[in-house]
Amino acid sequence: APVKVTKICCIGAGYVGGPTCAVIALKCPHIQVTIVDLNKARVDAWNSPDFKLPIYEPGLVEVVREARGRNLFFSTDVDKGIEEANLIFVSVNTPTKKSGVGAGFAADLNYVEAATRRIANVATSSKIVVEKSTVPCRTAESMRTILEANSKPGCRFDILSNPEFLAEGTAISDLFKPDRVLIGSLQTPGGRDACQSLAAVYANWVPKEQILTVGLWSSELSKLAANAMLAQRISSINALSAICEATGANIDEVANAIGYDSRIGPKFLKASVGFGGSCFQKDILNLVYLSESLHLPEVAAYWRQVVEMNEHQKRRFAKRVVDTMFSTITGKRIAVLGFAFKADTGDTRESAAITLIRDFQSEKAYVNVYDPQVEDEQIWQDLQEASPLVPLDQIKKQVTICPSAMEACMNAEAVVIATEWKEFLDIDWEQVYKRMNKPAFVFDGRLLIDAERLRKIGFQVTTIGRPN
Ligand code: UDX
Ligand code: UDX
Ligand code: ADP
Repeated sequence: APVKVTKICCIGAGYVGGPTCAVIALKCPHIQVTIVDLNKARVDAWNSPDFKLPIYEPGLVEVVREARGRNLFFSTDVDKGIEEANLIFVSVNTPTKKSGVGAGFAADLNYVEAATRRIANVATSSKIVVEKSTVPCRTAESMRTILEANSKPGCRFDILSNPEFLAEGTAISDLFKPDRVLIGSLQTPGGRDACQSLAAVYANWVPKEQILTVGLWSSELSKLAANAMLAQRISSINALSAICEATGANIDEVANAIGYDSRIGPKFLKASVGFGGSCFQKDILNLVYLSESLHLPEVAAYWRQVVEMNEHQKRRFAKRVVDTMFSTITGKRIAVLGFAFKADTGDTRESAAITLIRDFQSEKAYVNVYDPQVEDEQIWQDLQEASPLVPLDQIKKQVTICPSAMEACMNAEAVVIATEWKEFLDIDWEQVYKRMNKPAFVFDGRLLIDAERLRKIGFQVTTIGRPN
């Protein structure tokens, strides 16, 4: 029979583990939830008395404020967390491998394996182990092998796959009202029981018909597939934006017309400077790697093209900036508004802004950056990683981090909108115009601003998916 989950441990207090388990604690006051992480600074931030949490997510502070100390705990004591719990989420990072077999494509499963081995070594009672991080298909199988090979007598491990579909910036509302919860298990009596145990946790706030239970491999593949299909929509609309720019069609009108088809639907059709985030590129590359290992090169090439289109979109946008500014930006000052990969997050992983700034740097432009949430340290780290051969003090000579959008725009020749932060809508563009060198250019990489209004002020405006 399914065991009743009373104590949950979540290994990994990052963008996925933190918000997910905080919401579980909020919605299930009868369950003790402990989130553990090896990174002490991160745990300290989660525990900070003034709620200066390590990640920015609208609504997250309120959730932590209510549950922390009640039934939600953050700790660096990984072993104690494992030992006490009867259900363990593994939410550690799974970055793309940087070297070795599958470098640049395959997921680095080091962290998953280390966490799994820890569970096997420490546990003295049976556990349900849930893979939460997005992982390549069949990872659950590897986890099972590791656990079974190292378990103590009398300890039973059931592995579930329960991929997380939250998007950053809307994590809390996504968790409160998920489109669906997906749980994969072995189709054995034990596997199904474990699945029911976890389903009962979600049933505290998610309608039963939205809790889908499937096989382990379907669950793992569904996560990769969902992200690949979402990213594919963006690459499709971005590919069309290039045609619009060349023909005079308007991408907003095209997207609207397409989206009215109920078979297509209106969401995720916003042309942009390119998608970023920790998931899309990583998961597609995973799918590419999987396809290749299954000897399906055409399938691999098909999905790879989604990522290539995204790279093309970023390069194309940077080139358009240069072309529009009389084919040179050498010595010119460019204000880049937004550094995060999307609005309402401080996360910069794979952000298009990184690539844009790197391209502006190599054209020898000066860059002013402003983002309302990203820490300065993060910006320097990302720019350094993007240009490993350029010394940091050289980068710092070319790039200035500014405390406001207005200051970033001061004396600039061009403003580039890289992230769709709402506050950029409220910029006093008349003031900006006065303070910029003329002609004053605006490049909207997010279809955010009212181009006509800015043109009336005097700006030369370039938008994605429309001819100049
Ligand atoms: C299509 C468009 O749907 C329609 O809007 C346009 O005006 C003309 O082209 P049609 O080709 O008549 O219409 O049929 P459709 O239902 O779109 O199916 C096209 C093909 O896709 C068929 O072979 C169908 O079997 C296949 N299909 C459709 C699938 O294989 N899977 C699906 O999920 C849907
Ligand atoms: C994504 C998936 O949405 C989520 O379900 C999964 O769990 C993790 O990956 P996330 O990366 O946090 O979430 O954000 P998302 O809103 O999907 O945006 C990803 C990127 O696509 C951003 O850079 C965003 O700006 C871009 N995007 C999104 C577009 O360019 N156009 C769109 O229409 C939508
Ligand atoms: P995601 O976006 O997938 O949540 P993050 O990088 O934000 O990824 O979070 C993953 C977290 O997992 C990090 O804070 C990292 O320190 C933690 N972590 C990685 N390996 C282990 C481990 N073996 N034990 C405990 N925590 C771990």
